[in-house]
Amino acid sequence: MMAPAVLVADPYFPRLKSLVIETTGMAFYADKDEDLARIVAARMAETGLMPCARYLEVIADPVLGRDEMDALVAELTIGETYFFRHKEQFDALRDIILPNVLERNQHVRRLRIWSAGCATGPEPYSLAIMLKRDFGARIAGWHVSIIATDINQKFLARARDGRYDEWAFRATPDDVRRECFEQVGKQWAIRPEYKNCVSFQYHNLIKNRFPSLIDNIAGLDIIICRNVVIYFSRETVEGLVPCFRETLVDGGWLVMGHAEPNMELFRDFHTVNTPGAVLYQRVDTPRPICAPLPPYAPLPKPNLRRPAPPPLRPPAPVPKAPPVVKPDPVGLNRVRDLADQGRWAEALAGCDALIAANALDSRSHFYRALVLEQQGDVEGCETSLRRAIYLDRHFVLPHYHLGLFLWRRNDVLGAQRSFRNVLALLERLPEDHALDDGDAITVGQLRETVGMHLDLIGAP
Ligand SMILES: C[S@@+](CC[C@H](N)C(=O)[O-])C[C@H]1O[C@@H](n2cnc3c(N)ncnc32)[C@H](O)[C@@H]1O
Repeated sequence: MMAPAVLVADPYFPRLKSLVIETTGMAFYADKDEDLARIVAARMAETGLMPCARYLEVIADPVLGRDEMDALVAELTIGETYFFRHKEQFDALRDIILPNVLERNQHVRRLRIWSAGCATGPEPYSLAIMLKRDFGARIAGWHVSIIATDINQKFLARARDGRYDEWAFRATPDDVRRECFEQVGKQWAIRPEYKNCVSFQYHNLIKNRFPSLIDNIAGLDIIICRNVVIYFSRETVEGLVPCFRETLVDGGWLVMGHAEPNMELFRDFHTVNTPGAVLYQRVDTPRPICAPLPPYAPLPKPNLRRPAPPPLRPPAPVPKAPPVVKPDPVGLNRVRDLADQGRWAEALAGCDALIAANALDSRSHFYRALVLEQQGDVEGCETSLRRAIYLDRHFVLPHYHLGLFLWRRNDVLGAQRSFRNVLALLERLPEDHALDDGDAITVGQLRETVGMHLDLIGAP
């Protein structure tokens, strides 16, 4: 393997370093050339991609180099984590944040939490355990989701597996471990009842825009992002903080790591100091924060002609078929904005207005499905997804979301069918083509994600 010092002296090394920092945000490596070079040299030896210029050429290719970039990121990121890490913050969650959010959401009976930079999963699972043990009776029948994301695919795979060594429990009381985990050999596996409400997905805080309805990262009650941005530059964090704020509902809470208390960055939040923790709350409306949102301003009526139903398979020839009119994009953009702000009722009303103007527009039904899902309307979500597919069988994203939906309901065959439909629809599209309505997700990325889902489900 090449000596790190040799790699550092390579004229292409500075460009490689910039690419890594630009992709991951990890400015931490800006003054750690030797550490970065050691990791990159190991990857170069493993893959045979040499010299530095060749390796750089590969990882810079967003399509062909994606797997190698993922493999490199898996080595570069630091996944130190354990259950109930930093007790003071979990105390604050239990005593201040959760009671506040549960009271505010008691009528909608819904709770949405995002663990950003979840590593191998102890953080989101600790939240799930706390919710069930301390608030179980209060949230029985609620629609609870904990969305856990990370840039490191290897960590995500381990998180989904949910098995941990003794060391991950160094801050967990024994009775909690015995109650919530099952011993499997030398490891402990989280029990399904604490696992169900947690879903893991890839998300790069630097490259994937948020809030994003499509990524299910919008309208959150709580965001917990601890020990992640400490590796980023101040400018990067300055850019992220307003995005976190926008991703919260009015009254929602942000919990950052206790080592990153630069309160100046969070000046747009209301700050709450508790023993050993600083909490940030988004407060838009004057107190009480449970006050109803401002009344829904009706969307401008889209100026659309009502088209005749499009045929599912275009019969040949189509005599004088009226053109299928695309919906007013401003209307759907507005729906997305509302949904990204977690203003679900208004977003739903927006979808309904668009559907009233053009019942045959598959995109309006698709967005309606996503909004209904956030509202916990399972049946409505499924109906709208199927309607979107019925109206446009070539629209990929509803197939994908239907797959996720059926998978969550343990309809394995249905989920496999939907995911295979996605792969079939993507077959002839170029890898780097960005999908309509996919928040810049490319064909290649969706293909990879669906492939991973099929592997996990156990498809042949
Ligand atoms: C030290 S761990 C923190 C785990 C957990 N939040 C905790 O405090 O116990 C940092 C995590 O941030 C993730 N990470 C680093 N850069 C990221 C990025 N650009 N987008 C998303 N996650 C990132 C790493 O992969 C790693 O899993």
